[in-house]
Parts: sequence; C-alpha cells; structure tokens
Amino acid sequence: MNVFELSIIINITLQNNIFSGLFVGQNLLTLKEVDSTNNFLKNLLSNSKPVPEGTVIMAEGQYAGRGQQNNKWHAEPGKNLTFSLLLQPHFLDIAYQFDLNRAISMGVYDALWPLLGDALKIKWPNDIYYGNKKLGGMLIENLLQGSQIKNSVIGIGLNINQENFPEDAVNATSVRQILHKDYPLNDILADICNHVEAWYLKLKAGKTNFVRDTYLSRLYWFNVEKRFKTNGQEFTGTITGVKDNGLLIVKHNNTETTYNLKEIEFLNKQL
Ligand code: BTN
Repeated sequence: MNVFELSIIINITLQNNIFSGLFVGQNLLTLKEVDSTNNFLKNLLSNSKPVPEGTVIMAEGQYAGRGQQNNKWHAEPGKNLTFSLLLQPHFLDIAYQFDLNRAISMGVYDALWPLLGDALKIKWPNDIYYGNKKLGGMLIENLLQGSQIKNSVIGIGLNINQENFPEDAVNATSVRQILHKDYPLNDILADICNHVEAWYLKLKAGKTNFVRDTYLSRLYWFNVEKRFKTNGQEFTGTITGVKDNGLLIVKHNNTETTYNLKEIEFLNKQL
C-alpha cells in the first residue's frame, strides 16, 4: 500500500499555521490511526513531492509504534502525543549528529518545564524523565546522502493524559499521573514545536557549546554515584559527561569509560 492509498483509509485533517514559530509545525497533518508516524513520514519523503522542513505528522493512535532498540512504543489512543517532525540539518556534520538529539531534547524539556519544573530530566541519550520515571522518548532516524544528513525524521512520544499503564510498564508515568489534570494535546504540541525550533536554530547558528552544556546540566544522574550494568556485570559509577559523538562517559574506579546505548544499563537500585 502506498502513502496515498493509506491516506484514503485514515482520516486526515490538515491544519495550517496554528503555531507561532517560523517553520516547525506550520505544516501539520493529523492522522486518526497509522502504523507509526516515523514510517508514515519516511514513506512521504520517498513517495511524493518535496516535504517542507518542519512538517509534523501527528497520530491519535499508532498500531505499530516504534521505540529505541527495536522496542515497541505503546500509547493509549487519543490521550498522548505521538508525532514525527521533519528537519533537514544539512549544516550538521554526521560525526556530530548527536547534537541534534541534544537540541530536540532541550526543546521538549523547555516545553514541559513550565508544567513540571526541575524534577524533569533528560535521561541519556534522549529520554524524558520525571524523577525516576519515564514520561517519553524519541526515535530519531537520520537519512543520509553521502556524508550529509538529508532528512531527519524525529519521532517523539510523550505520555500526557494516560492514567493507567500496563503492569509491565512499571517505569512509565504521564503528565496526568503527576499533576492529576488533563492537558490539551495541541497546546503542548505547539509549545514543543516552538521550543524545538528555537534550539534547532541555536544549533544552526553554531551555538554548539551552549547546546551541549545545557544538555549536560539537565542530564539524569549527572555527577552522582549510581549503579549500572555492562556485559552482565553490575558496578557503581558516575556519569561525568557525554562525548561530542553522543557516547556516555562513566567513571568507575578512577577510570572513565565510554558506552553506547546497547552497552550500558541504568539500575534503579539504592547503593
Ligand atoms: C523510546 O523511548 O523508545 C522512543 C519512543 C519514540 C516513540 C515515538 S511515537 C511517534 C514516533 N513514531 C514511532 O513509531 N515512534 C516515535
């Protein structure tokens, strides 16, 4: 099935210019149901005329939502934010593509901070945490052309008005669970789009150090001794930084080691 056939069976509404930024969210497509908004946007990019940078595909429900590390992303339809955003960071060297993850995380953080305050953290690499619980995450898929990022499909899932989570999602929380109040999804989406745009433009303007420093200042477990697991072995260590390329730096026995996402697990245990 191509994207046009798909658009016949899903209810599409086009809304324009409801956001105050320059381009992020100016072109918004809301789908009743789709497999995954990341898949939909990637199909759109390969099947049709150019898609404007800043286009947002939002779904009320996803039946095959995807998370990091091949996990599934579950969200109760109509209660949460599940959307994908197109950016075209041609200016960004692929060696530094993690700066885009940082900028997007900052934008989501800034949008949620007025509601949730300082208990909000970014768990490396780009999960959104409140205390020790996960509010949401992102799946960023960079489509390369040679050594350039041609398109970046930025999928964001945030638990907003969902009250109950399946038993196996022990670590999940939502804005509703925290504040005991429902929030209009479109308002939060608009704030995210505006803040993401602002951080993206900072990155584009070369304010990389500012983006990196702010990311670090909001990082979950930064500079505190915690338990981790690598290669089946538990250890006590301290996150001391994140490399330019996005690898996590953890100090253990006075030695700093770098890890990628598959190599380290955070253990929520008391020391
Ligand atoms: C994670 O924390 O594992 C990342 C979750 C990303 C989920 C979002 S929901 C919108 C977009 N479409 C997808 O299929 N995944 C992302």
